[in-house]
Amino acid sequence: MRAYFMVAALVGSVSAAFLLAANLGTGNALSAQDFVDLQQGSTAHAGFRRAHAKGFCVAGDFISSGALAPFSSAAVLQAGRYPFIGRFSIAGNNPLAPDLKAPVRSFAITLLPETAQQWRIAMNTPPVLAVGTPEKFYLQLQAIQNNSVPQFFAEHPESQAFVKWRSTYQASSSFASERYHSINAFYLQKAAGQQQAVKWAAVPMLTSTISSELDETDADALQKEFFARLNAGMVSFDWQFTLGTDADDENNATVLWPDSNVQISAGTLQIHQATEQLDGNCNALNFDPLVLPRGVAPTADPILRARAAAYAESHRRRAREVLVQSVVGDQHE
Ligand code: HEM
Repeated sequence: MRAYFMVAALVGSVSAAFLLAANLGTGNALSAQDFVDLQQGSTAHAGFRRAHAKGFCVAGDFISSGALAPFSSAAVLQAGRYPFIGRFSIAGNNPLAPDLKAPVRSFAITLLPETAQQWRIAMNTPPVLAVGTPEKFYLQLQAIQNNSVPQFFAEHPESQAFVKWRSTYQASSSFASERYHSINAFYLQKAAGQQQAVKWAAVPMLTSTISSELDETDADALQKEFFARLNAGMVSFDWQFTLGTDADDENNATVLWPDSNVQISAGTLQIHQATEQLDGNCNALNFDPLVLPRGVAPTADPILRARAAAYAESHRRRAREVLVQSVVGDQHE
């Protein structure tokens, strides 16, 4: 099986577009469009993300400890306070899905230092992926839609770590008490020729108890819990980095790095504002994992390139739909 990527465009560090072409062994080329067609399903929800469609916006500050400054020249890893825009979401293409029922919860952030060196991050609750290539990820998405996931896992032994995690994971009653993982590895870079492979996680620092009872019949139960919790006080996460060693393969997101690896806290992500997604400034953002500041670089993990391509395609579709809706709306006023 052969996969290749052509960089179609890379404009500054703000927008990256990749054309993904992979041979699935069927003679058909797999593109970002194919990914997004599959993810959106037969009836697309116009104007919404084709994956992680349901969510809400948050804003806050990252209080950087500076502990990672010896590894990276990234502005936000130098000690200080840096604003961020974020988004909590659930996996899936339905913006009206009941949030308590989703198997995967997510936290995305865009760090905004004064230098315009944005850092966009999208994290999920599992620490690993079931499969390590875009082609197999596509087949996994098909298996989910065909209700043949057990058979898919049986045919893909590399899914072992994911299956083990899933068997012990218990969803919590709050977005604020989940642990969110980068899953893919990246490099921290300080000087030319010097780099350190890392993965990271946002680890909850609960400072208040649940502020409202969860109504399990409410499709927005988790969102309401979060808004109520925030009204009662700030929500914070410790941003923890795990350093890879020579024994770890940074290009294979199916493997869990050992607990014995060095962990360093980069600081605290403090959330002080939450907004409905249609009113919030996270909605128009694409949390492309390849929008990285100087001092952080992608590994060769092929999933990262596929993600950037698919996020761009999903963003292109929903941005166009929002524009068309607003033009049609104006004509009727
Ligand atoms: C080949 C694998 C993947 C594909 C094709 C894919 C595809 C997508 C797409 C199309 C979107 C919507 C983008 C938008 O319209 O802005 C999205 C959102 C998202 N993805 Fe993935 N994804 C992949 C892997 C991952 C992984 C490994 C993670 C976690 C580390 C992840 C986390 C997220 C999150 C958190 C969002 C929502 C971001 C937001 O709030 O806007 N995805 N994904």
